Amino acid sequence: MKVARSVAELRQALAPERRAGRTIGLVPTMGAFHGGHLSLIRRARADCDIVVVSLFVNPSQFGPDEDLAGYPRDERRDIELAETEGVDVLFAPPVEEVYPPGFDATVAVGGLTETLEGDEAHRGRAHFAGVTTVVTKLFNMVGPDVAYFGQKDAQQALVIRKLVRDLDMPVRIEVCPTIRDADGLALSSRNAYLSREERERALGLSRALRAAEATLSSGVRDRDSVLAAARAELERAGLDPEYLELRSAGDLSPVERVNGSALLAVAARVGKARLIDNTILKGDP
Ligand code: PAJ
Repeated sequence: MKVARSVAELRQALAPERRAGRTIGLVPTMGAFHGGHLSLIRRARADCDIVVVSLFVNPSQFGPDEDLAGYPRDERRDIELAETEGVDVLFAPPVEEVYPPGFDATVAVGGLTETLEGDEAHRGRAHFAGVTTVVTKLFNMVGPDVAYFGQKDAQQALVIRKLVRDLDMPVRIEVCPTIRDADGLALSSRNAYLSREERERALGLSRALRAAEATLSSGVRDRDSVLAAARAELERAGLDPEYLELRSAGDLSPVERVNGSALLAVAARVGKARLIDNTILKGDP
């Protein structure tokens, strides 16, 4: 496995592969690998000739009060895991390589980015501007045929699809299922912040989603009933969500009744961790 620190090194490693007509898959990450990251890497390994994983804790997507400084980092372990998974190139640039002095560009997607995570009451629009800017740069640096994202960050995946569509980027986006621990907790690098007691409370998030699914299975499809079932589980766990919303799975517009499918998304603080989770509810039996 090649570890590339600069765009020049990265391009040098990929140019002969591209010339030989090999397909290139990219998995963008911020490192501290867990089973969610590994599932994306395995999917890329199965689909593509060459697998590139980027490891870059992107400062521009963190708000001033967020956890950039304390974000979990363990590059040595990530390199070992990537190697074990058969990654061809790990691209782990320093911040100055991505944002050199004088850097002053933003790529922003409208609409989808102003709600849920992008709501100014939560992470704010600057969060997704940071994500879409760095993902655009990563696409331009790597030139992947396919890029892999997790359904765990459902809104991010929609925003990336919109970015690619709106700007005619020549890359296919694959969105892969959320990987969970056996008890239901969605894997996240930020789970590292949880004490044992907090981790127990954090289970309220996935339990809330399961309760909503059960409500739907019982034939009840209206928004208030679905949200009430989810909210009851959050309360039982002592969680006060930043948001709990039922939205169209395609454009995040509000949904009054689950016909077809809808996205149920939740965000809550547990101790110093801010956690998100979601499920796609299916209204059809
Ligand atoms: P990061 O949080 O490291 O996540 C990298 C990728 O892993 C994302 O596509 C995310 O949705 C996916 N992922 C995280 N947890 C998952 C889980 N439990 N199951 C399946 N997939 C999961 O998301 C980012 O980094 C950044 O915003 C990035 C896209 C790299 C841009 O900086």
